[in-house]
Amino acid sequence: MKTGYGTYHYDGGELWVEGVPLRTLAERLGTPLYVYSASKIRTQYRNFDRVFAGRSRTVCYAMKANSNLAVLRLLAEEGAGADIVSVGELVRARRAGIPPHRIVFSGVGKTETEIVAAIRAGILMFNVESAEELEAIEAAARRLRRPAPVSLRVNPNVSVDTHHHIATGKAENKFGVPYEKAVELYRYAARKPWLNIVGIQAHIGSQILEVRPYLETAKKLLSLVDRLQSHGIYLHVLDLGGGLGVPYHGEKPPAPADLARRLLPMMKGRNLRLVFEPGRFLVAESGCLLTRVLYRKETAHKNFVVVDAAMNDLARPALYDAYHPVWPVRRSSIRGVATDVVGPVCESGDYLAKGRVLPRPHAGDFLAVLGAGAYGFSMSSQYNSRPRAAEVLVFGSQWWVVRERETLNDLVRGEKIPPALK
Ligand code: LLP
Repeated sequence: MKTGYGTYHYDGGELWVEGVPLRTLAERLGTPLYVYSASKIRTQYRNFDRVFAGRSRTVCYAMKANSNLAVLRLLAEEGAGADIVSVGELVRARRAGIPPHRIVFSGVGKTETEIVAAIRAGILMFNVESAEELEAIEAAARRLRRPAPVSLRVNPNVSVDTHHHIATGKAENKFGVPYEKAVELYRYAARKPWLNIVGIQAHIGSQILEVRPYLETAKKLLSLVDRLQSHGIYLHVLDLGGGLGVPYHGEKPPAPADLARRLLPMMKGRNLRLVFEPGRFLVAESGCLLTRVLYRKETAHKNFVVVDAAMNDLARPALYDAYHPVWPVRRSSIRGVATDVVGPVCESGDYLAKGRVLPRPHAGDFLAVLGAGAYGFSMSSQYNSRPRAAEVLVFGSQWWVVRERETLNDLVRGEKIPPALK
């Protein structure tokens, strides 16, 4: 069995994160509980940012991966910007102290309210995903009498070997404007006094494990940059989106340095600010979901361990068949048996792990579901009327609760029984 995953490691038979035993957190704060390692997030950010040192660049954290204010503040302190997809994310980013000139706004369905809020905030650019959205942004800017900064999200039609739900850069996906239409749209934008053309963007997918698709995308975007120049349209930003993968189960994703080594030569002599939108890379490995064993259930077909965390807490296994390492918080020398780790939600798809060799856990034992810092809490719900988990941020041997566990009252907040039913 492996003995370390990022800042998670065994010492004295107990699983620790940085200088804190996970058992302490589970006992003090209850489960299910999300735990994040501040030093891992910092290291990931620095590893990404420093390989582009010497170039003008902005790392805009894709905050949909984990939008807790404390995580955002930590990244803001490191100098990160944000990739947002809603006015809610804009509010969070601003509250956490991320400056507006480091914010990019992505997404195919920005509403008028969201467009107005982002223009007012003074963001770096909208990554525009359709001709109609461009018109809507132009109309809002004209009304506000404030030019709107735009870049087109171009669909480069590049294939990426990842789960089909998280591949976004093929022509059949809903994202971006078709490559062949981009020049025409830029020329339209250039004629509009209230649109300020800033750059060009592509985001081709998530959990990408090779450099090739990034290079193909960069090549395609740079050729557009050149064509636009011949039309007198000059871009200042090249945004290659996010998507860099992480190891969940022995994958060997390229390091940011591998990407930089191949990408930077292509950028030579070009006066373009590089923007990236990593989400998973920055936070996935920092986080775990702590859960308590409720029951063991052994049938003729299978061994199940029923735990108190479920698909409402961590949806990735149910949604994408995603693999997350599951480690016992107290190491055991008992020989393991193949076990499914399942939650209390009433669906067969409610599992956290399948067929894992675990040393027969007992009721009351704690398990850590690793690699859960990205798209864990942020995709959690109250399905089955289960209050959402608390979140903790660990700094060395210190820790802070950065989101309280929801209460039963939170579950019904805002709901009303109408007079017709009284
Ligand atoms: N930029 C844009 C425009 C995006 O849509 C995304 C993610 C990112 C950046 C960040 O991608 P990342 O670096 O995190 O791969 N819920 C799925 C992932 C969905 C990704 C959606 N877009 C999962 O749990 O795997």
